[in-house]
Amino acid sequence: MTVLELDGVSVDYGRVRVLDRISLSVRPGEVVGVVGESGSGKTTLARTVLRAAAASEGQVRVAGQDVNRLRGRALRAWRRSGAVQYVFQDPLRSLDPGAPVVDSIVEGLRIARIPAVDAERRRSAALEAVGLDEDLITRLPSGLSGGQRQRAAIARALVVEPRLLVLDEPVSALDAASRDRVVQALIALRDRRGSDLAMLVISHDIGSLAAMSDRLVVLNRGHIVEDGLTRRVVAQPQHPYTRRLIESVPIIPTLSANRP
Ligand SMILES: Nc1ncnc2c1ncn2[C@@H]1O[C@H](COP(=O)(O)OP(=O)(O)OP(=O)(O)O)[C@@H](O)[C@H]1O
Ligand SMILES: [Mg+2]
Repeated sequence: MTVLELDGVSVDYGRVRVLDRISLSVRPGEVVGVVGESGSGKTTLARTVLRAAAASEGQVRVAGQDVNRLRGRALRAWRRSGAVQYVFQDPLRSLDPGAPVVDSIVEGLRIARIPAVDAERRRSAALEAVGLDEDLITRLPSGLSGGQRQRAAIARALVVEPRLLVLDEPVSALDAASRDRVVQALIALRDRRGSDLAMLVISHDIGSLAAMSDRLVVLNRGHIVEDGLTRRVVAQPQHPYTRRLIESVPIIPTLSANRP
């Protein structure tokens, strides 16, 4: 059973084809990195998975459900279920600037009417997973560093216990030190969750993606030109475009990032 399966998916904006017959699958617990240059279609891919963009052909299945067919009430119910959670490049898009960070983190628990005991457990599990201290989250978002904010945004996504976390350029806006902390948090999350949580991580930076992804998918002008285990893609890139991406950055894949 796959968590996510795209089968021949195309997305068109007017007469422009932005994704062209994309096929891709993510298994439970797997971390799949999607890399490509600006304009290659990465965010469109994420929006399609979230059903924020509609595929003009092909199937998008999330946990077996063909989300591209959902309309009206069924679509709203699916969104409310929280099966897929999204983390933006800019964490301020998911944190209320006028409220303590903890309020934003637990919002999904309130919406889903999770009973207090369970809510407390999920809240502390999410905070621990991203390495955020209790005293930090009583502050407003403006009182946190960029990396702390991004980890708070990830905690907010985790409390609803999604099957799939989609992260769109989660570290691109951060300074080097914050970036490392967030990458480490995502690696720890993957290693701890086992097969519970799958992640689709999008970045133009193959270096940080290689550190956390089990598999790498390379997107070039709306086409997947490469899809394989991180170790294999980095050591033996099959496509010239992948080779160029790799040559442009230093890559240090961690051993644990390359589970079979
Ligand atoms: N709503 C839209 N209407 C028309 N064209 C769009 C729309 N959204 C994206 N595009 C176009 O689709 C292409 C892919 O965009 P997308 O945002 O998916 O790229 P990306 O890989 O996420 O780029 P970046 O790394 O800059 O975020 C681009 O040419 C973009 O201009
Ligand atoms: Mg983008």
